[in-house]
Parts: sequence; structure tokens; C-alpha cells
Amino acid sequence: PFTIPQWTSTSEGAATMITGMIDPTIAGEFTALVPSGASVGDYEAHELRDQDPKRYEGNGVLKAVHNVENVIAPALIKQHFDLRTDLAKIDEFLIKLDGTKNKNNLGANAILGVSMACARAGAAARNVPLYEFLARTAGYPTSYTMPVPFFNVINGGRHSGNPVAFQEFMVAPVGAESMSHAVQMGSEVYQALKKIVSSKHGASACGIGDEGGFAPPISHPTEALGLLLGAIKNAGHEGKVKIGIDPASSEFFKSGNYDLGFKTNQPHSLSPAELQSLYSSLLGKYPIILLEDPFAEDDWSSWTAFNKTCKVELVGDDLLATNVERVELAKSKEACNSLLLKINQIGSITEAMEAAKKAYSYGWRVFVSHRSGETIDDFIADLTVAIGAGHLKSGSPCRGERVAKYNRLMDIEDELRATGGSFKYAGPEFVK
Ligand code: PGA
Ligand code: ZN
Repeated sequence: PFTIPQWTSTSEGAATMITGMIDPTIAGEFTALVPSGASVGDYEAHELRDQDPKRYEGNGVLKAVHNVENVIAPALIKQHFDLRTDLAKIDEFLIKLDGTKNKNNLGANAILGVSMACARAGAAARNVPLYEFLARTAGYPTSYTMPVPFFNVINGGRHSGNPVAFQEFMVAPVGAESMSHAVQMGSEVYQALKKIVSSKHGASACGIGDEGGFAPPISHPTEALGLLLGAIKNAGHEGKVKIGIDPASSEFFKSGNYDLGFKTNQPHSLSPAELQSLYSSLLGKYPIILLEDPFAEDDWSSWTAFNKTCKVELVGDDLLATNVERVELAKSKEACNSLLLKINQIGSITEAMEAAKKAYSYGWRVFVSHRSGETIDDFIADLTVAIGAGHLKSGSPCRGERVAKYNRLMDIEDELRATGGSFKYAGPEFVK
């Protein structure tokens, strides 16, 4: 038990703060929102949906809510865990309570929300910000690295209705002076891109996709990359803003080949070797520093072959599913050099942080990520800072659920600056 200030209004309408214990057993309410994805990998933990065709086309989550209220809550409360110290024990308890490998019973969406809310409660009980609580809980230093934001400004693949197969084209202001400066630079590139898209494809092409990026009617990745180069130049940030691509290629892997025309009625099939040479030529021509899921989640031989000579950050998303076992498997095959970390792929904060630790132990990088079906919850901003990931992706500087994470990061930066905390912007060094 501890005290939190309560606000109320006086008769004059001015806010007055009343401090004092309201109920000695209730310190506050700590909540969490859980995201969802459109391009979901085969190795992700189970997201429990009701499958009742009469509600939300089967996508309702009443079962998951029921599990939180009637299964998890009573069992968890009986344990009397200490929120200040026991996040790992709480998560372990939830995993055992579910009893399956993929959280099939209670649902990863049910378990993750509880795990996140417990972390928030723990931070409040410790009276520290969430990022500090997570850093201390997982044994990371409290000299922080503010991440380079990767803004997904052109949406393709499953995230938009245009013909381009690759899902994400991101801009990364590595040359910014601070996190907030990076947000400014990313926003300027985004606005410059809007002007180019509008003049080339008409104003109606400025509609946006799932992650807030534009979705112009382009077919080939080089068209998207050309648009990005133009936008970076017009915004005056040449050399300071680099590019990341997530083709999310599991989505167009069919019978051993990759169909770049999968969203159209004109198949454009490439063999794994042909796709590898397409990537190599793109990496040679454009300032690309990160490539995520270039190959499908089971196409191990392509990953391993490409990783042998790849000079950029090679990120496993569907490949790894934020799962320690998949990370170990990928290491044994030398398939990639970076982990994409999505908390709902694995379904608890402790397991997500363990996957990050494992990746770091191999000398890999960790790239924290939102989902296409995001919420306004900004938990991953604190998590990114806590584990020193050095970069994260949260979509375009557009749409509240994307902007929430960037805003939280700017708040953290302000707070650290104001309180004399130790921090630096990752900048071009983020890859180290
Ligand atoms: P998703 O997309 O959330 O739809 O899976 C994000 C990604 O593939 O990185
Ligand atoms: Zn991805």
C-alpha cells in the first residue's frame, strides 16, 4: 500500500489536490492495451478470438476478457506476489496457469495485458518510471539510449490496397541530434513525401495504409525507394536519414517461390535466388541500413545464404516470433543478426525481455516493434528505452496509435534531461 494524490474540483472549479490514503489496500488502477497484427507469423503465441460468426465476424475477444476476470485474476490475487520484485514470477505463474506452449488456453492477448498492467503497477509501487522499472527488473543499466525511430512512410503488402508486395518502407533519422529532433526530421520527410506522392499520383493517392504510411499505386520496390529518396532530399535531410525495408515475405511465399504480384491478378514469381539478387541490387543502390523478413519464416536456407554476405542489419520477425527457442534455432543456422521484438508475439513481458537478452548474447541487435493493429498504449516506448534497443518502429508520424509511442519517447527524453538522468540519442551508432 502507498499513497497517490487524488484530484478533485473545488466549488470555484479550480483543481485541488487532496493527498491521503483512500483505501489502504488499493494504490491505483493499472491498465494495458494489447495489439494485434495483419501479417501474423506461424510461430506466434495464440491470440484468442471468440470465433463466433455473429459477433465481429468471429473476431470478438469476450473469451479472453472472461479469462482475465474469472481465471487469471482470482488465481493471481491468491498468490500475493510482490509487484515490486516479482514480475518474472508473475509471468511464470501465468504461463503455468495456461499450461500450453503457445498460450492456447487463456490466450496470449489475455496474458500479455495482465503482464503489462503488473509491470505498470510494479513501477508505481517502486515510484519509478516504467522504463526504469523494466531496466532494473531485467538487469539493464540506467544510463539510457534513446532509440532511432524508424517511420514506416510507404505501406504495401497486407497493410494497404496498392499493388506493391513489400509491406514497409521506413525512414530512419540516424543523423538527428536527439529523439525529438528525429521526430521532427521524420515528420518533415513524411510531409515532403506527401507532396511528391500528390504531384506524381494525384491527391487521392495520399490516403494512408494500416501504419499511417502513404499507399500510392506503385508496383515495384524501386518506385517506393525513389519516392523516399526524393522526400529525404526535398526535406533537406540527405545523408542524415537512412532507409529500412520490411518485405514481410512470408505473406507472398508460395510453393518455394516468392510472388511479387500476389496482390494483383498478374503473378510475378521470383525464385529465392532471384529474390536474393533483387535485395543485393537494392542494397547496392539505396541507403538501406536494415532489412526485415526478406525471406519466409521456413525458408532457412535463403536466410543463411544471404546472411553470409549481408552487410546490413538483417532482422527476423516472423522468423523468430520473439521466441527464445526460435532465436536459438536461428543462431544455430546463422540466419540473421537482429531480433524483431513484438510483445504480443510471445505474450508476456518477461519472455520478450528474455528473447532480447538471448539476442544480445549473440551480439545481435534488437529492433522493437508495434503491430499493424495497434492501440494507443505506449508501453513499448518504455520497453525500448529500458533494454537499450537503440531503435524501434512505430509507423508513420500520423495516426494516434503510432504517434503515442513517439510522444512517449519525447516525454522520456524530456524527463531524463530535466532530472539529470544519463542518456544519449543512439544516432548512427545504434547498430553497435
Ligand atoms: P503486422 O506487421 O503487425 O501486421 O504483423 C508488422 C510487421 O510485419 O513487422
Ligand atoms: Zn515484419
